[in-house]
Amino acid sequence: MKVLGIETSCDETGIALYDSDHGLLADALFSQTEMHAEYGGVVPELASRDHVQRVLPLIQQVLAQAGLERSAIDAIAYTAGPGLIGALMVGSCTAQALAYSWGIPALGVHHMEGHLLAPMLEENPPAFPFVALLVSGGHTQLVEVDGIGCYRLLGESLDDAAGEAFDKAAKMMGLDYPGGPRIAALAQQGQGGRFKFPRPMTDRPGLDFSFSGLKTFTLNTVAEHSRDGQCDPQTRADICRAFEEAVVDTLVIKCRRALQQTGLKRLVIAGGVSANRRLREGLDAMARKLGGELFYARPEFCTDNGAMIAYAGCQRLLAGERETLGSKPRPRWPM
Ligand code: KG4
Ligand code: ZN
Repeated sequence: MKVLGIETSCDETGIALYDSDHGLLADALFSQTEMHAEYGGVVPELASRDHVQRVLPLIQQVLAQAGLERSAIDAIAYTAGPGLIGALMVGSCTAQALAYSWGIPALGVHHMEGHLLAPMLEENPPAFPFVALLVSGGHTQLVEVDGIGCYRLLGESLDDAAGEAFDKAAKMMGLDYPGGPRIAALAQQGQGGRFKFPRPMTDRPGLDFSFSGLKTFTLNTVAEHSRDGQCDPQTRADICRAFEEAVVDTLVIKCRRALQQTGLKRLVIAGGVSANRRLREGLDAMARKLGGELFYARPEFCTDNGAMIAYAGCQRLLAGERETLGSKPRPRWPM
């Protein structure tokens, strides 16, 4: 089965073609980050307008890349939520209209299920069951995964998502959106040990997270070490390092707890923050110590992309799932 995937939940138009027999055939992405950077975050109206302009040309591009005609497509999977409503509507209307006119099924996919399954596109995919840490700009969740659609929430952030904390902390230091990769890059030049940031909620039992305190701590640290509203470059790099280490340590502690609690050996990380190198290294070392293994997607499939939606949709379509014409996108949608 060849499935066209369409992702438009936020600021990336992602299109891909996945074949259940031959794997990923083609994928293309247009990122709007440069456009939103000017405003310090995603402007929903601009995002929707840009998706409208990109989505059809990218579909043509993916078909050309795969060397296929549109008649080769058996079904269309699109992100139905959660996300920005206007942005989601572009993907869902495009998918449903094309599917209707081509006489093939369309299926709405949960964005976080897409992220969760993205590591399945790699050469050494994890076998079920596993523990998944979903860390994106909108979500921080620990999930026990027994199979496609069999998800049990173990814990989640009670306030900001990890990616959101990265983005907000970056903004406080005058760094552009999206802040995660910028903080990660500066942290490389930072000296460890100069600042000690808290590891929120790690001294309490349970698998929930809270990142809003870290944000306040960052704000205070920046203010304390600023002159004329700015820190010197080395201080900023040192704060980036301390902030990143605090987020990574917190995530590692909770993941260790989740593996111990479930007795599972495989850990999967997915979502934009899973592209973070320090996080990958920290989780990898922890999982190995427990006799387990860590799995993640290639960096471009950690952040939003069409391939994960094509893959997740394909699995559900193969299981016989279908939806009725006129299904609405769901900006809020628990997985
Ligand atoms: O999964 P994603 O592309 O979009 C959502 O579904 O939210 O995640 C975007 C988030 C942003 O908050 C971004 O700052 C963060 O992922 N991110 C990173 C890194 N790359 C992206 N955070 C830390 N380190 C990175 N290398
Ligand atoms: Zn995402």
